[in-house]
Amino acid sequence: MKALEAYSLKKMYRQHHQTVEAVKDVSLVILPGEVLAFLGPNGAGKTTSIKMMAGLIQPDAGWVRIAGGNPHRNPAVLQRMGAVLEGNRNVYWRLTPEENLEYFGVLKGLSIREARQSGRALLERFNLLHKRHTPVQQLSRGMQQKLAFAVALVHRPLLLLLDEPTLGLDVEATEEVKVLVREIAASGCAILLTTHQLAIAEELSDRIAILQKGEILTESPTQELIRQFSGTNYKIEMETALDQARLAELKRIGAAIENETVVYVSNPELLYHVFNVLKPLSLNCVAKEQPDLTQIFLQIVREGTPHQKELLRSTEEDALKV
Ligand SMILES: Nc1ncnc2c1ncn2[C@@H]1O[C@H](COP(=O)(O)OP(=O)(O)O)[C@@H](O)[C@H]1O
Ligand SMILES: [Mg+2]
Repeated sequence: MKALEAYSLKKMYRQHHQTVEAVKDVSLVILPGEVLAFLGPNGAGKTTSIKMMAGLIQPDAGWVRIAGGNPHRNPAVLQRMGAVLEGNRNVYWRLTPEENLEYFGVLKGLSIREARQSGRALLERFNLLHKRHTPVQQLSRGMQQKLAFAVALVHRPLLLLLDEPTLGLDVEATEEVKVLVREIAASGCAILLTTHQLAIAEELSDRIAILQKGEILTESPTQELIRQFSGTNYKIEMETALDQARLAELKRIGAAIENETVVYVSNPELLYHVFNVLKPLSLNCVAKEQPDLTQIFLQIVREGTPHQKELLRSTEEDALKV
């Protein structure tokens, strides 16, 4: 079963006689236990997309299914979903953690007894039990965020929507949130994680969808995306500068050279030709270059990878024909 399925979501905002196409075309699927990172620069449309998936705003076009049901037609479906939205309005500040968990648990369809039990277990798990009677406004930002997670999980949802869950947290609280995300996914919950923090997406996600100006530019398993863009770039550092004959020969066979001492080879088949040219000079080091997600992200956002967009489109069209 698919925990979340969104198809071709669109949303326009009208403001001061102007229209903003916040979301133009967003489609995605998340299976139970999977973490999908929804990555994109500020203003890309991440929050607007997540609000449509959470049933908080109505899409102009497209549809959402949570555990197979339509949240905009059948609000009971929302009981399968929990959300931690951007900012700090996920919990009531004047209430205590215990009161928040009971209130939201009942709102999501639990009996008061179930809400109390489940809430207590979560407070224990999140190391908040000793704060259960302290008004939320007196807790640290990290504790408030952990409580927001507990509230989102109190009814044991199948899908958890997280909008920038580590924004504004200190290093320690960020680490705690990361551990939570991993644990929650391991327990079988599907997670949609929006973030503009690339390192977090790289560490936590199984798949990454990159959003820009309301459209998904590319979507792929996280490791595959990194592998695909890491290409096979080798960097060979020489001990001394290369002579003119070798420089000319290396250029001829397609290697790139920097400062007459560093050779870049983008094609692995070329690597041994390059070694032949360099023989018998001393090498300082040979390394395979591994770009991090930051470089990949910038490249995709700059270039827009139309090829992948085409691929995505054609699979969607195929899906429609079926
Ligand atoms: N309530 C709103 N009214 C008008 N414009 C909005 C509203 N919410 C968001 N926008 C605009 O929609 C675009 C996408 O915003 P948002 O979904 O918040 O992006 P992200 O979460 O990726 O930063 C932005 O240009 C933003 O200014
Ligand atoms: Mg946002």
